[in-house]
Amino acid sequence: IPVTEAATTKPAKTLPDAQTVTGVKHWNDHLFSFRVTRPASLRFRSGEFVMIGLPGDNGKPILRAYSIASPNWDDELEFYSIKVPDGPLTSKLQHIKEGDEIILRPKPVGTLVLDALLPGKRLWFLATGTGLAPFASLMRDPETYERYEQVVMMHTCRTADELNYGRELVENLRNDPLLSELYGDDFANRLLYYPTTTREESPLMGRITDNLTSGKVLEDLGLPPVSPETDRAMICGSLAFNVDVKAVLEGFGLREGANSEPKEFVVEKAFVGEGI
Ligand code: FAD
Ligand code: A2P
Repeated sequence: IPVTEAATTKPAKTLPDAQTVTGVKHWNDHLFSFRVTRPASLRFRSGEFVMIGLPGDNGKPILRAYSIASPNWDDELEFYSIKVPDGPLTSKLQHIKEGDEIILRPKPVGTLVLDALLPGKRLWFLATGTGLAPFASLMRDPETYERYEQVVMMHTCRTADELNYGRELVENLRNDPLLSELYGDDFANRLLYYPTTTREESPLMGRITDNLTSGKVLEDLGLPPVSPETDRAMICGSLAFNVDVKAVLEGFGLREGANSEPKEFVVEKAFVGEGI
C-alpha cells in the first residue's frame, strides 16, 4: 500500500530555530514573562543568555539577547522581558500567546556563570529591573547552593510592582520540595532576599550601591562586612549601574573575573542602552 505524502512528512516548522510558546504572564504594562519549548539539544549553564526573536516585516529575523531565566534542569525555557513601546522586538514580542512560535538560536553564552567565580562562602546577586533574569535561573539551580553557603539576592526597581516577578519566584523557591528536602528549614537562611524600590514607598528602599556602601543591607540581614576572602558577586543591570556597583565592590577589595580567569565578581549588561 503506498504511503501517503501526509503520513511521511513531518509538520513543517514555519521558522528556522522555532520554539513554541507554552505560557505568558504579564506583570504590569511594561514587564512580562513567558515560557517556550526547549530544543532537545540545548545545554546551557544557569546564568547564560541566548538570542531570541521574531520575523521582521521584511522576513529578516529581529533577534535580541535574552538571559535564560529558568534553571538548566527545567525542560522548558523561561524568559523575563521588558516591553519597550517602540522597541523593534518587544513591541511585537509582548503580544505573543500560547501556541505561537518564536525564534531561538541555541547558542548560550555569558559571564554570569558559577564557573567564572572562585569558591567562597557568600554569593551576592545584584540586579536592577530585568537584570534579575539570569539570577532567576541561578537561584533555582541547586548547584548554586552546593557551591555557596549563602546567597543574597538584592533587586532594585523604581516601583514596587516591578519587584513582583522576583518576589513570587523567591516565595515559590522557599516552598520548593527539592530545595527544602536538601536544606530543610535552613533554606530561608541560605537564600536571603533584599528587594528595594527607589521611587515609591516600600518596606525596603534605596539603590544597591547606597545600601552596600552604607552597610544598611548588612545590618538589616545581620551579615558581616563584604570581604574578598568570603564574598563573591554577580552584577546585572544598566551600564551606569554596572559601573557604579563594580566600583563599590572594588572598594571592598573584590576583583572582576571572567570565564577564563575566575575571580571574586563578574558583570553583564541587562540591556544595551541608548547610544552605546
Ligand atoms: P531595543 O532597540 O533593543 O532597545 C531599545 C531601548 O530600550 C534600549 O536602547 C534601552 O534604552 C531600552 N531597553 C532595552 N532593553 C531593556 C531592558 N531589559 N530594561 C530596560 N530598558 C531596556 N531584555 C529583557 O527584557 N530580558 C532579558 O533577559 C534580557 N537579557 C539581555 C542580556 C544581554 C546580554 C543583553 C545585551 C541584553 C538583554 N536584554 C534583555 C535586552 C534585549 O536584548 C533587548 O534590548 C530588549 O528585548 C528590547 O528589544 P527591542 O528590540 O524592543 O528594543
Ligand atoms: P533611581 O530611581 O535612584 O535612579 P533604571 O530604570 O533607570 O534603569 O533604574 C532601575 C533601578 O536602578 C532604579 O531603582 C534606579 O534607581 C537604579 N539605578 C539606576 N542607575 C543606578 C546606578 N548608577 N547605581 C545604582 N542604582 C541605579
